[in-house]
Amino acid sequence: MTENANEFFSVASELKAELEPLGKKYYIETYGCQMNVRDSETIGGLLQSCGYTLADNKNESDLILFNTCCIRDHAEKRVFGNIGALKEAKEAHPSMIIGVCGCMMEQDNVAKKLQRRFPFVDLVFGTNVLHRLPEMIKHVLEGDRVCLLSNNDVTVVEGLPSVRDVSTSAYVNIMYGCNNFCSYCIVPYVRGRERSRSVDAIVNEIEQLVSKGYTEITLLGQNVNSYGNDTRSSSFAELLTVLNQIEGLKRIRFMSSHPKDLSDAVIDAIRNNPKVCHHVHLPVQSGSDRILKAMNRKYTREQYLDIVHKLRSVSHDFELTTDVIVGFPGETEDDFLQTLSLIKEVGYSAAFTFKYSKRQGTKAATMEEQVDEAEKKLRLKRLNDLQAEMTVTDNMKYIDHIGEVLVEGYDQRETCTVFGKLSNFKMVYFRGDPDLVGKYVNVRITACKKNSLIGEIV
Ligand code: 5AD
Ligand code: SF4
Repeated sequence: MTENANEFFSVASELKAELEPLGKKYYIETYGCQMNVRDSETIGGLLQSCGYTLADNKNESDLILFNTCCIRDHAEKRVFGNIGALKEAKEAHPSMIIGVCGCMMEQDNVAKKLQRRFPFVDLVFGTNVLHRLPEMIKHVLEGDRVCLLSNNDVTVVEGLPSVRDVSTSAYVNIMYGCNNFCSYCIVPYVRGRERSRSVDAIVNEIEQLVSKGYTEITLLGQNVNSYGNDTRSSSFAELLTVLNQIEGLKRIRFMSSHPKDLSDAVIDAIRNNPKVCHHVHLPVQSGSDRILKAMNRKYTREQYLDIVHKLRSVSHDFELTTDVIVGFPGETEDDFLQTLSLIKEVGYSAAFTFKYSKRQGTKAATMEEQVDEAEKKLRLKRLNDLQAEMTVTDNMKYIDHIGEVLVEGYDQRETCTVFGKLSNFKMVYFRGDPDLVGKYVNVRITACKKNSLIGEIV
């Protein structure tokens, strides 16, 4: 079901008339992945349409929101600690609104626990109800405590406002939710089932972004390759082909890609549409077939490597990044060595590496043979040391290479140094004026650092 945002704006404009003259300020603290960053952009847009302006820091704001994540680590401890630290500020300024939203609130009982422990939290809401924020704020201002979770609400709401703080590159959701139930992962439980936006809505949003000066977009979804499966309309490959035709758009990126759904059609679309960048983030998670099966990933090491070879055949500068989990329940030294050998075989330009952490409610949490914490730590270090070597080797390939960089910003510490990325996601630093930001510049690579390249304008 798709809805339009208009009905939410009547409440927002009512609030704006009341709040804007008072100079009310908001602050959002965002944890977690790009999906959360994008949600915070929408939340910021909604708050501005209610008359709030962005505060420079937490202390001077009238509304503080924590947009939480619960995928890994001790997320709850950290977020709860930061919320607890606001108790005194709230006592000193009782009119200050404190809110908590995001994935963690959708976990079983967490919202209740939070409200019990922190009676001064005024507002709690889930991941699929952002559009109801003006309404929720209205109730809070009337003195209510509000808690609104998604409760299987799968509405896709179009036309919500956004505040994006990066001016060159923009995130665009193409779908929400995940159907994959990898056995370690909490995301399908907190973000619900897959819902794709329509091609028209996506094209519309991107055309508007282009008219504001954006030339690079990153399409977001938990698994972009299954775009359109739920609506039985255009596939992801077809979407890429349509977006490639948008005038003024120069670069199309996307993440993440589940290897089981990265079809030949998608690889052909990458090859045949010049705006699609030469980089894929392709989480492998493990190099061992036994562990991949226990993770419910639905591909083998061989199938994964086959996709890697096909992608590499698109162009000589094609790059891959990945996610890896070490210490999944039952992972033996031999399984882990297979992960290391896969890392060597693929030659990623970067890997995001994680120690497995138990998520209540997932299948892996009930598995026996949980790996000892000290062993996980050791494996993570061995993996990171190997990837660090691989990254340098990979970067060395680019010495003397000439490529186009979209300049994203300038180095605050070093004068006359700007930075930006090649199509293949490699970060390059080079001498240049700050007025290059937003422009495309041809750069020759002259040296490399641990995680980036050094170049000069040609
Ligand atoms: N433990 C460790 N890492 C995890 N990830 C997801 N769930 C867990 C977990 N329980 C990692 C995966 C995924 C990335 C976004 O986070 O590698 O690709
Ligand atoms: Fe989690 Fe797997 Fe879905 Fe990614 S594809 S969000 S790892 S369940």
